[in-house]
Amino acid sequence: MANILITGTSSGIGLATAVELATRGERVFASMRDLSRADGLRHALATAHAEATVLQMDVTDPVSVERAVADVIRQAGAVDVLVNNAAIMGIGPLEFTSDEEFHEVFDTNVFGVLRATRAVLPHMRRRGRGRIVNVSSAAAHPRVGVRLWGSYTASKAALHALTLELVKEVAPLGIEVVLVEGGVDANRTAGWAPIQQKATAFAAEPTAYETCERIAAAQMAFVAGNPDRVANVVTMVADACTVAHPPVRYPPEAQQGIDAANRIPDDVFLRLARGDTAEELYESVGGFWPLQRSVLNG
Ligand SMILES: NC(=O)c1ccc[n+]([C@@H]2O[C@H](COP(=O)([O-])OP(=O)(O)OC[C@H]3O[C@@H](n4cnc5c(N)ncnc54)[C@H](OP(=O)(O)O)[C@@H]3O)[C@@H](O)[C@H]2O)c1
Repeated sequence: MANILITGTSSGIGLATAVELATRGERVFASMRDLSRADGLRHALATAHAEATVLQMDVTDPVSVERAVADVIRQAGAVDVLVNNAAIMGIGPLEFTSDEEFHEVFDTNVFGVLRATRAVLPHMRRRGRGRIVNVSSAAAHPRVGVRLWGSYTASKAALHALTLELVKEVAPLGIEVVLVEGGVDANRTAGWAPIQQKATAFAAEPTAYETCERIAAAQMAFVAGNPDRVANVVTMVADACTVAHPPVRYPPEAQQGIDAANRIPDDVFLRLARGDTAEELYESVGGFWPLQRSVLNG
């Protein structure tokens, strides 16, 4: 049984992962920034006849992070696995995204991960073992073609790079680092709702970025209509915590689409970005690009 500390378990993937790991028999420390939001988790645990220790941790607050990690070590003797799951989304043209909004996304999705990671590393180094699981997204690959997710995409791309840097730094110390990429279309979690509302509002009150806003609204509506695949991401995160020798990266379900997007040559990418609807451009680009074509063609 491993001692597993998870961030952001008041909803969505974090909540479901806490329940899944507790059901698998792991000792789960489910953290959240606001303990008054713990009812959903407690109810889900009770329904699954599983147990977890709920504790406060706001990943934007270094004091809260240090205290939570110290708490787990005091109670369980060790943090075997840290799951950096907490994140917030952001949507809108970069021109209209304020420093404050951008900072909030990075403070949670990037610096939050760094804070929690720094808090566990001295302990893991002393033990010569430990595992850090970072929850990223297919959105970390900007050629996928999702529109107006700039702050979120940039934060997940930064997380992607930081995770692989960390692999190189701590692998010689016996510490494992795993990147799990959820699909862009997993959805149905709390974080999606305000973003979907905002995307719908774009279509109603377009700005100078009307083309992108129409495409973004259609993409979000498309995602909302897809089957809920959050359970698949939860299984990947739970496996990343528990399997004996995890891979460095659990790719998103739609890996083929991501690969296709990552291979888009620059000139094609530029034509797609400009809104060129020539059919041959859309043949092998995967992801969200084909949807853009149907929006642009009305
Ligand atoms: N859902 C998807 O389709 C999808 C796909 C790919 C990747 N992901 C990734 O999966 C992870 C979980 O997202 P989700 O979809 O489950 O979203 P979610 O339901 O909105 O959950 C996000 C969690 O993070 C918490 N959080 C936000 N700021 C925090 C802070 N400062 N300190 C501690 N906790 C904080 C939230 O707490 P509050 O309740 O207090 O706000 C919430 O519990 C994220 O890393 C996301 O990027 C999701």
